[in-house]
Amino acid sequence: MKTNSYLSIGITLLFHSLISAQTTTPSTPGVIDLTKLNNYANQGKPVYITRTNTPVNNTITDAGATLGRVLFHDKRLSRNSTVSCASCHQQENGFGDTAIASTGVNGSTGRHSMRLINAGFATESKFFWDERAATLEIQTTQPVRDHVEMGFSGTSGDPAFSELVTRLSAIPEYRVLFAMTFGTATINETRIQNSLAQFVRSIQSFDSKYDVGRAQVPDNQNFPNFTAQENAGKQLFLNPPGPNGAGCATCHAPPEFAIDPNSRNNGVTGAIGGGTDLTNTRSPSLRDMVGPNGKSNGPLMHNGAFATAADVINHYNLIPGDNANLDNRLRRPGGNVQNLNLNQTQKNNLAAFLRTLTGTNVYTDPKWSNPFNASNELTLIILPENATTVTKNNNNTLTLSCVAAPNLTYQMESSTNLKDWTTYEQISVDATGLIERTVPITSTNTFFRFTYTP
Ligand code: HEC
Ligand code: HEC
Repeated sequence: MKTNSYLSIGITLLFHSLISAQTTTPSTPGVIDLTKLNNYANQGKPVYITRTNTPVNNTITDAGATLGRVLFHDKRLSRNSTVSCASCHQQENGFGDTAIASTGVNGSTGRHSMRLINAGFATESKFFWDERAATLEIQTTQPVRDHVEMGFSGTSGDPAFSELVTRLSAIPEYRVLFAMTFGTATINETRIQNSLAQFVRSIQSFDSKYDVGRAQVPDNQNFPNFTAQENAGKQLFLNPPGPNGAGCATCHAPPEFAIDPNSRNNGVTGAIGGGTDLTNTRSPSLRDMVGPNGKSNGPLMHNGAFATAADVINHYNLIPGDNANLDNRLRRPGGNVQNLNLNQTQKNNLAAFLRTLTGTNVYTDPKWSNPFNASNELTLIILPENATTVTKNNNNTLTLSCVAAPNLTYQMESSTNLKDWTTYEQISVDATGLIERTVPITSTNTFFRFTYTP
């Protein structure tokens, strides 16, 4: 009797070694199922969100942001494998840090860590408090190259960036992820930058109370879902400085609340550890300064000088002094620095409005979470076990099909004894990950399997 059989072999990768497949759900800690990528590329955004700094040559893909997620949470990106991007940009704190200065591999940072909420939704394309990174792509490897933060500076006894590339190139998971994203397994700084930037730009928060109102009426009308206090605060935020305005929107324009590209500094001039610093002309989006429960996502400004929105409002109400780089919008005709003369009710209204800018999903969505398990292990599902379907066709052929990780090249192997396997065909799959091949039914028992070698 003639029979034909098939086998599908699932290959998954453990932190350092290859292991066999395991059954899991997509959110199992320590597992990324590459056959069911998270949606990063087409998340959808409100129609009124129009500003973007995404360059045409680095739009978000699901594969690229998935790679970026792994890099973002991987401590091996620091010299001694103790610090990841996420050490200082924590999801539960709006991808910021509650400490004034964050701890890196060689001490603490000179400025406060910035929240990474809606970083891609802005006209401003420069990054860091002082805008020293011309693009987000360039920004992403600066922390890695920083002596204090992650320690691949190539100076002060630090290894060079090229040693990180060598380190990552030896890790099979990264060969898979880079090949899936860029077509080949080559790892270089540009690819690291592009994938990290895709991940950072994918972090979006548009489910705030503000968004519920803004979806119904324009900013200059009262939002139906707001309290009277919140609507009064919104009006103060929008109006130019004066009896009924605080002038915030000229620099932090809604609905993104990102910084205006032309801003100079806002009169917060102290540096962490003392001294002055007049170079800070950028702010993260004012969204998500507090979490959904009202808890602070960390102190505010480049030096973490203010703990609360109330402190911030007191600062703008009476700018403490002039400086050479103070933005003219904070000076009055004649040259005096701004004194808004807000009363306590107005200050409370403004603070109430700022609290409406907080979302919910961004704090918990697994697609931005740490993919490693508690032992820093990561398993990638590339070719799920037992997922191959076999269809018998009328013309004495069988069609084998399976959905595997996208954009990779697989082997279809055949065997007559289940011991010795030979390559039957090399199969490159597209973004759908679908492997489908038709084979003849022969007179001898022939077994087939799909395999992947990183
Ligand atoms: C040791 C703490 C630390 C680590 C690690 C760290 N960051 Fe940061 N991050 C900061 C601080 C502090 C700033 C502000 C620095 C400044 O402006 O001088 C910052 C700023 C940023 C910004 C600018 C945000 C904006 O709106 O301008 C981005 C983006 C960013 N980090 C991404 C990353 C990525 C990606 C990694 C990992 C490769 C990383 N960070 C690792 C502390 C850290
Ligand atoms: C002239 C432009 C300008 C105006 C007007 C302005 N800001 Fe700012 N804002 C900035 C700049 C620049 C920074 C970053 C400064 C720094 O950290 O040194 C900033 C930072 C902030 C921060 C800190 C954000 C963070 O993540 O730490 C808050 C909050 C803030 N502004 C709220 C307001 C409010 C409320 C108003 C209106 C009362 C206002 N701003 C008016 C330019 C402006």
